[in-house]
Amino acid sequence: MKSLAILLALLGPTAAALAQPGYVQPHAPGIESKGYVWNGPDTEKTEALMHRGDPEKGKVAYEVCRGCHGADASGKNDAIYPQLAGQHVKVLIKQMVDVRAGRRDNPKMHPFIGEWAITTDDVSDMAAYLNSLPVPTTNIKGSGANATRGRTIYEKSCSNCHGDRGEGDAARFYPMVASQHYAYLLNESVQIRDGWRRNANPKMRAAIKKYSDKDLEAVSDYMSRLPPPADKAAK
Ligand code: HEC
Ligand code: HEC
Repeated sequence: MKSLAILLALLGPTAAALAQPGYVQPHAPGIESKGYVWNGPDTEKTEALMHRGDPEKGKVAYEVCRGCHGADASGKNDAIYPQLAGQHVKVLIKQMVDVRAGRRDNPKMHPFIGEWAITTDDVSDMAAYLNSLPVPTTNIKGSGANATRGRTIYEKSCSNCHGDRGEGDAARFYPMVASQHYAYLLNESVQIRDGWRRNANPKMRAAIKKYSDKDLEAVSDYMSRLPPPADKAAK
């Protein structure tokens, strides 16, 4: 056992954290808590937003993320790993900080993005790098069967925040949803509706509450089919 501990220490804190049987990610209050404020003040987030991200450094820091999110940051549909390429800087920073703080639960990813592995400057640098990448249009789409119904739902309840073309809002921390994997879009829509994604926006939750699983399949299908903004699409 002693030699195992030494081996783990040599492998570095990431491997050690992964291997500790009692390892748990931190926990911070979210939407389930009274007085929750979406996108409330957070020291690390402020620092990361103020730091001028360096895409070259971000590319190096991103190396530990490739195993799940892919070398081109296109993610994986079957495993519900989101495409990150071209996502807005503020969205990426908020999501990374929320996972680090334990406001968005992600036990699979946390060991790779915990503060022993990634610094606040790395967070800004990776956001700058990921934002600079072209958005692959090879994302896995839904079946297309209910995309028309999905469009009706999207235009009624979602486009006011996520944009007519799914482009999101870079200034307001609203994610781009165009060209994202169907399975991830559906998973997040359900998680937010049902209160499991704890860093969610309460106004979005109110907007999505009335929709059934079938409705969310349809709207996710529609979103997955929206092309990325022309200046962001992979050639
Ligand atoms: C072990 C697999 C794994 C690794 C390694 C990993 N991630 Fe993730 N990541 C995920 C999963 C799974 C999700 C989606 C979780 C969910 O469904 O809420 C995710 C979500 C994200 C999101 C949120 C995207 C969005 O649209 O909200 C960001 C940003 C992100 N990861 C960045 C990173 C970065 C940067 C690294 C490397 C430091 C990394 N991830 C390493 C599995 C991983
Ligand atoms: C009031 C604005 C608002 C409305 C309306 C809204 N959303 Fe959102 N949505 C957000 C915000 C903000 C986030 C990111 C929350 C966070 O900070 O984690 C989000 C996240 C998402 C995500 C996860 C994206 C990712 O990259 O992780 C999906 C999918 C989504 N919304 C789908 C929908 C659908 C479908 C509708 C309509 C039924 C909808 N949203 C309506 C603001 C909104």
